[in-house]
Amino acid sequence: MSRSSQLSPFASQPGGAGVIAVVDSDPVARQVITHHVEALGHRAVLHDSAESLLQQPGDELLLACVALGDQGAGGFELLSNLRQRHPRLPIVVVSAQQSVEWVVEAMRSGAADCIAKPFDASRFSAMLLRQLAQRPARAIESNFIGDGPAMRELRRHIDRVADSDVVVYLRGETGSGKELVTREIHQRGPRRRGPFVAVNCAAIPHQLQESEFFGHERGAFTGAVSAHRGKFEQANNGTLFLDELGEMSPSTQAVLLRVLEERKVQRVGSTTVVPINVRVICATNRDLEAEVAAGRFRQDLYFRLAVYRIDLPPLRNRTEDIAALCQRFLEQSAPGGAVVRMSQSALEILKAWSWPGNVRELQNVVHRASLIASGPEILPMDLPPSMVNAVSVGMGVGKGDPLLDDNEPLLPFREIERRAILRAMRAVGGSVDKAAKALGLSRATVYRRLVEFASERGSEV
Ligand SMILES: Nc1ncnc2c1ncn2[C@@H]1O[C@H](COP(=O)(O)OP(=O)(O)OP(=O)(O)O)[C@@H](O)[C@H]1O
Ligand SMILES: [Mg+2]
Repeated sequence: MSRSSQLSPFASQPGGAGVIAVVDSDPVARQVITHHVEALGHRAVLHDSAESLLQQPGDELLLACVALGDQGAGGFELLSNLRQRHPRLPIVVVSAQQSVEWVVEAMRSGAADCIAKPFDASRFSAMLLRQLAQRPARAIESNFIGDGPAMRELRRHIDRVADSDVVVYLRGETGSGKELVTREIHQRGPRRRGPFVAVNCAAIPHQLQESEFFGHERGAFTGAVSAHRGKFEQANNGTLFLDELGEMSPSTQAVLLRVLEERKVQRVGSTTVVPINVRVICATNRDLEAEVAAGRFRQDLYFRLAVYRIDLPPLRNRTEDIAALCQRFLEQSAPGGAVVRMSQSALEILKAWSWPGNVRELQNVVHRASLIASGPEILPMDLPPSMVNAVSVGMGVGKGDPLLDDNEPLLPFREIERRAILRAMRAVGGSVDKAAKALGLSRATVYRRLVEFASERGSEV
């Protein structure tokens, strides 16, 4: 196998869409191709050989751009192998070879198109765009679970905004699915092939935010040893997700307002402006309206961002979705293995819990329980004890219930059952029929228990 694949600086960025594999043994040629790929708003994942691309899962890739030619007939074999490994991936071949026979053989081996090296930039970009346009739209598999009224309403919102560029503002408690909804909007819209860039304002110190978002030139400030493309430029032709908006510094808020209005960014320390075409979605789990009222968040920016507001319901308000979510998380917890079930009694506890961490908390609880469960079903004892205790108290079992005497000694259940049946028998004057009715048991059960108690305790009955 060849040297390990090299990744471009942007390849580590999360977010699935818009990734193009660039394969060339020449680092300079790789950079040239990467430049064209990024100019189209996509990310490049760099490989120094086709063998290296064979090792990479192709699911995330839109297209592969592979330099061939100096491998002789081995090049065609590599192409066939790539075609087999990634059957739906369009492969465009860049080669110094220009003969008709060579191109025909490359196409036979699986190339979608060929371009001669050195190539003209506009012809190359046109070829990439043609291939991308021809690529059949991938069936969008939704990761989004829930069919209750709240989730149906949320789906309607997503459908309404996906095709446009309207700025969406998501409000919801932590773990309620703000990022998932954002990705869903991106996936369903026309920018799905462009990059998805998520940036968490809370994770970036105030003094670094401007350069993170808008980029900087080399030497713009102490420590700026090289130029940096900001998140806006990285998200060009795609979607930028501004998370935890309430944590944005006042100076960044001012620049953001200008960028949104002018649709141009200016890197810190630069005099040139770069036009950008970015869809912005933002989210917060803080009360941004209160931040505006307190003067900590600019009102003009708030109005610019909160154009289409979607409130995500907390999980405790949509307990009807808990069973389906559990099922999905149980399947995820057992890839390829036996999936354990959620017992009805455990499900009741999950439905009664308040879920401060929402779906993320449920995911963790289910995953942990699936590891602990010793049988085919998750039982209440596999759930966190604090949850089971709190839910029992909430269900009225515990202090405050007038029927319960906290000073009563704990008894084995068999003894409690015996006492209940004997009390009922005394209260109704010894009628098995009436005692059974009062206890909600069948006559046969009461009779059978009486016989058992008699044989266990001799003359007491
Ligand atoms: N409706 C849903 N169906 C399936 N999974 C979901 C759903 N909602 C949320 N999740 C899952 O729950 C986890 C948390 O969701 P997400 O990261 O989108 O929440 P968030 O609102 O962005 O949270 P935070 O405010 O903490 O950043 C993720 O793993 C996500 O896939
Ligand atoms: Mg989030």
